[in-house]
Amino acid sequence: MRRDRLTPLGPSSTYAGVKINGVKGMNDVLPARVAPWQEMERVAREVFALYGYREVRTPSVEQYALFARGVGEMTDIVNKEMYVFEDKGEEMLALRPEGTAGAVRAFIEHGCHVEGPQKWFYLGPMFRRERPQKGRYRQFHQIGCEVFGVAEPACDAEQIAMLDDYLARLGVRAEVKLNSVGDAACRPAYLDDLRTWLGARRAALCPDCNERIDRNPLRVLDCKVESCQPVLREAPRLVDRLCEPCRAHFEAVKGMLGDLGVTFEVDPRLVRGLDYYVRTAYEFASGALGAQSAVAGGGRYDGLVETLGGPPTPGIGFALGQERLALIMEALGRKAPVERPAVFFIAADEAGAREAMRRAAALRKAGIACDLDPRGGKLKGQFRQAERAGARFALVLGGDEVASGRARLKDMETREESPVALDELAARLTGGR
Ligand code: HAM
Repeated sequence: MRRDRLTPLGPSSTYAGVKINGVKGMNDVLPARVAPWQEMERVAREVFALYGYREVRTPSVEQYALFARGVGEMTDIVNKEMYVFEDKGEEMLALRPEGTAGAVRAFIEHGCHVEGPQKWFYLGPMFRRERPQKGRYRQFHQIGCEVFGVAEPACDAEQIAMLDDYLARLGVRAEVKLNSVGDAACRPAYLDDLRTWLGARRAALCPDCNERIDRNPLRVLDCKVESCQPVLREAPRLVDRLCEPCRAHFEAVKGMLGDLGVTFEVDPRLVRGLDYYVRTAYEFASGALGAQSAVAGGGRYDGLVETLGGPPTPGIGFALGQERLALIMEALGRKAPVERPAVFFIAADEAGAREAMRRAAALRKAGIACDLDPRGGKLKGQFRQAERAGARFALVLGGDEVASGRARLKDMETREESPVALDELAARLTGGR
């Protein structure tokens, strides 16, 4: 480890002028690529509101114990991937690897259960120290939804249908995979049997699977290694071993999804990387993503609020990976609308530059996007800036135009020019005369 990485407060003059890069696996989204992000966030707010979800904002940092207890100490997320640090010797904190535990903490801390069922959504960065690859980063962003206080299968079906509706509005088709992971009544006996069954086949399974057999046998079913597949295909299935209430819940969810016109596939090997799930587990997958095919995942977590010290409260939620959704939208060639200036002022001289400032301020106050190049300089250079900005029109202002109150509006696409009275500019740009 290089010392300059460990001593951020070292003598900065030593390193003056040395380039400092971003952190591995943590990305910038530059303005040229931000349009799909804005689009997915705008549509999320719009669609979630239609279904009665309201936004919650919680911190990016929480107590380590929240995730250890909430997500599960044995999960890879907590055990291997979490950024944990001691805050000046006072407490163990962690960068949140996901949003559910924090939402549940806030729900409990503010006594929200007294208000009856709640539907929340959130957007924000999450952190997992995974090996970066396409679609997998160390800082990534989620759009998530949580419902508290409803145990009925109608809630599961409505939420899955909402996510389907949301993606459809973005022009994205994803495969809906559904499973039931049982509950405390039926899962333990199944896990014992699965452990024994897998234990007898250790030689045919990869090292990762072998490591997981004792720790988290359900995760073995999720292994993607080719040589493990023949064994795992034959593994006992939890869907065949559900207790009566879990089976009835699963059947009801499937039936209601049918009523809502959502196409789905039951995937008995779908397991999730977090410990809190019971009954419904689901994922939305897209072939456009390659290995990291899940664009969203979620499920029911009826015991979680209690585990974290709250009153017994059922819950269900999902989170969608924004980087992955952006990749899909880009792969589909979806062009999100970009805000372009209606006009770009070009200053021919000092008087024109001052007038351009005044006119631009007035247009902006009227809600019309416009721009200018405060550096002034040659007309050619300013026209190039107008081009880069994607302006619809350019308008040259100099002493003559200021004196006469008239100028020429140049259409940047057709290159045609037409006269305009400066006082009528706003009306011209908004379609009036
Ligand atoms: P998750 O399946 O761990 O669930 O993550 C949800 C989604 O976040 C994934 O489907 C994926 O799109 C994205 N994602 C996860 N890890 C990464 C990564 N390293 N890089 C890029 N994208 C990633 C949860 O986080 C649960 N909290 C979901 C939930 C909410 N369950 C109930 N309520």
